[in-house]
Amino acid sequence: MRKILIANPKGGSGKSTLSTHLATYFAWQEDAVMLGDLDKQHSSHHWLNLRPSSLPFIHRWDIGEDKIARPPQGCQVAILDTPACFTGKKLKHVISKVDHVIVPVLPSAFDLWACADFFAELAELKAVRRDEVKIGVVGMRVNPRTQSAQQLPDFLNRYDLPLLTCLRDTQLYNQTIQRGMTLFDLPHSKTERDREEWQPLIDWLHVR
Ligand SMILES: Nc1ncnc2c1ncn2[C@@H]1O[C@H](COP(=O)(O)OP(=O)(O)OP(=O)(O)O)[C@@H](O)[C@H]1O
Ligand SMILES: [Mg+2]
Repeated sequence: MRKILIANPKGGSGKSTLSTHLATYFAWQEDAVMLGDLDKQHSSHHWLNLRPSSLPFIHRWDIGEDKIARPPQGCQVAILDTPACFTGKKLKHVISKVDHVIVPVLPSAFDLWACADFFAELAELKAVRRDEVKIGVVGMRVNPRTQSAQQLPDFLNRYDLPLLTCLRDTQLYNQTIQRGMTLFDLPHSKTERDREEWQPLIDWLHVR
């Protein structure tokens, strides 16, 4: 089973967007997918409630904030969306139960500063020091033509963390989310460019 944690203590960095998209991607691969949501705002589970029944099914993974149970047997991919400020004891507890952590990051100074502390915290965790968990970064809402797009790789150079991919800023994300869908539910012809952007992240998740 693949267990993926999506985390960044900065609000609005794209955690729920990444969580719902990955869940949809794996559901289209006919994997049994569970989507957990530790955020009190329940963005991911709210989205799941809206998901049309004609689309590949994603299981709702109900978990208490303080007690993160193991995903049920038979599930092939478990994805866990987290709230802003998800750090400290809670992070330490959850990280020992997953094999991948994805950190979505916006290319802005405020977001990068917040990440610096988070990366330092991650580096101290036992599971990370023992290499039991892989950590990767995804640039969110990145316009490759801007100077701020270059900020992200420059910043990550200071850490031993891969920048897996950068996703462009497009209204397609919001338009699909509000219908209980993601870009992966749209025809390939409409999303070719975006699927290409997602591919390095998908490939990284497949490497054991
Ligand atoms: N690549 C993108 N292009 C355009 N809009 C995007 C993109 N990625 C995310 N968004 C939008 O950015 C906003 C914040 O994203 P999201 O809700 O996923 O962040 P979050 O980290 O889960 O926030 P919170 O910390 O509040 O839970 C949303 O309105 C989402 O639709
Ligand atoms: Mg969220």
